[in-house]
Amino acid sequence: MTTNRPTTAPSRRPAHDEPLLQIKNLRVDFRLETSVVHAVQDVSFDVRAGETLAVVGESGSGKTATALSVLRLNPSPPCVYPAGEIVFGGRDLLTLSERELGQVRGREIAMVFQDPMTCLDPLQRVGSQVAEVLRHHTGMSRAEAKEAALAALEEVGVPDPAVRYRQYPHELSGGLRQRVMIAAALVSRPRLLIADEPTTALDVTVQQQILDLLVTLQRGHDMAVLLITHDLAVVAETADRVVVMNKGTVVETGDVLDVFDRPAHDYTRELLAATPRLEAA
Ligand SMILES: Nc1ncnc2c1ncn2[C@@H]1O[C@H](COP(=O)(O)OP(=O)(O)OP(=O)(O)O)[C@@H](O)[C@H]1O
Ligand SMILES: [Mg+2]
Repeated sequence: MTTNRPTTAPSRRPAHDEPLLQIKNLRVDFRLETSVVHAVQDVSFDVRAGETLAVVGESGSGKTATALSVLRLNPSPPCVYPAGEIVFGGRDLLTLSERELGQVRGREIAMVFQDPMTCLDPLQRVGSQVAEVLRHHTGMSRAEAKEAALAALEEVGVPDPAVRYRQYPHELSGGLRQRVMIAAALVSRPRLLIADEPTTALDVTVQQQILDLLVTLQRGHDMAVLLITHDLAVVAETADRVVVMNKGTVVETGDVLDVFDRPAHDYTRELLAATPRLEAA
């Protein structure tokens, strides 16, 4: 099969070899009143420094549960982590105290979601929300943080940053809100950005703009991106490597080109066959 690779394809520079994040034999359960959901079962994969790693798989395959585990953001209860390690900077994030994890969250590892309103406070001006992240993580003065937040809004392509700075989330379009969330996520220069379906809720043209933005920022900041998506065309455009999940397990991991050209698993073949855009050579 030939993949139609647009000009935004990653440079495929050799990823730094050392893993930045290692997920080892992770299990995630949701202990409900009458049953237990084994959402993630023995999942292992690495994210290397500076790379874009995509995680794909059908709905319910455990992508979000895995991603949220990295910063222990699954609601608990009902979530428990019966086994596994998530190693980042030589430490197992699953064993850190809430206070220690607070140092990692948003500073070394940041997250963006499908719906910006899960992160943005509807009652606070968007600029001050970006500035607040900076003040929290860097101890900048109010004036310094404002200046840096304006620069961050500009960097993510928010027009008229000084005007937008003072607006509330509901005054912005979905695409602009997404840009603001990305600015807030990146302003502390994390080494890893986890993006869970960051464009699913947007119009197709805006989706492409946000993906292009993520690729640009990822390169400019030498940041690794863990990108969760349903869209294999997006994976072909943006990712270096891909992890294919099914029913809470990893069925296949590899370079995107290898996996898409020579899928080793029936499940991967089915996923690829269900994405007609990839068939067009
Ligand atoms: N808070 C929760 N309580 C109970 N079960 C949950 C919870 N969150 C996730 N699950 C279950 O865990 C499993 C994995 O869900 P997860 O959200 O990780 O899937 P996903 O691959 O992200 O799917 P999608 O593509 O639809 O986002 C599913 O069976 C889901 O119902
Ligand atoms: Mg999900």
